[in-house]
Amino acid sequence: MSRPKVFVTRKFPAVGLERISAQFDTDIWEGELPPSREELLKRIQGCAGVLTMLSEKVDDEFFDAAGDQLKVISQYAVGYNNIDIEAAKRRGISVGNTPGALTNATADLAFALLIAAARRITEAHDYIHDGKWKAWEPLGHIGWDLEGKTVGIVGMGRIGQTFAKRCRGGWDMNVLYTARSPKPEAEQELAAKRVSFEELLEQSDFVSVHCDLNAETRGMFDSAAFERMKSDAIFINTARGSIHVQPDLIQALKSGQIGAAGLDVTDPEPPAVDDEILHLPNCVVAPHIGSATRSTRDAMANIAVDNLEAGIAGKPLRCSVT
Ligand code: DGY
Repeated sequence: MSRPKVFVTRKFPAVGLERISAQFDTDIWEGELPPSREELLKRIQGCAGVLTMLSEKVDDEFFDAAGDQLKVISQYAVGYNNIDIEAAKRRGISVGNTPGALTNATADLAFALLIAAARRITEAHDYIHDGKWKAWEPLGHIGWDLEGKTVGIVGMGRIGQTFAKRCRGGWDMNVLYTARSPKPEAEQELAAKRVSFEELLEQSDFVSVHCDLNAETRGMFDSAAFERMKSDAIFINTARGSIHVQPDLIQALKSGQIGAAGLDVTDPEPPAVDDEILHLPNCVVAPHIGSATRSTRDAMANIAVDNLEAGIAGKPLRCSVT
């Protein structure tokens, strides 16, 4: 009997690829960059499962191209804003993601960006590399303290709460948050306080974004939001670039409306090399590496393969979003 066909849209951890190749007729996109749309639509034809990344737009056109045998989309990420979930549901196609596995790594990265922005690490690094470091400077590179400050967390899910624990436990920060529903555990353990978005912007020294990208959150950090923030506030985004309006963020950073930013996500992503966001002294940018630790990526790969196997077998997925 022929084995179900699977397309994997990028090379990903061996622990996952080995499991897939052992069971399925596997085609892997070996390119360093994602396949073009045309190539993608060609390669998914006749597949029972497709293992996707954030870069693939999964919509009706995609499903039409794949054909009737398609049973499951297994997304190698927790976020799935690239997938038309309603279209998948209409067609009875399961969609899985990889929640949980990347919580600590992403919360750590948010904290790393916060410290890097607060202590002006990349600016100082560039200063040395530009040959400008001549002597210890009593007034040079003065940054922000973290201890006892107020952090505002937008989206108090798994990653938001884990980031809050680091802020509270390590640096004794006051924690404010916005979320669709109250988080009694966080309120009890971390003395976190649920406030309106406006209050959070006005009262926080640091604002960190941990919500999904959806119609409500797209562009929520625009010039009006930055105007409400403290003039020395630090803005951190490790969620999705389109949650902030990038020209407004650039303007806020240049005009001193806010103090600094740390971004693991940009809009567009990746930015062009001459994009202003990459050339502001008070903005630290990482190339979407929140989940990029060895054990995290391996754990994500195992969940993604569990989802793929279950979907092809017609069973409930380990982590389903449909
Ligand atoms: C996710 O999982 O959604 C991250 O953005 C990429 O790991």
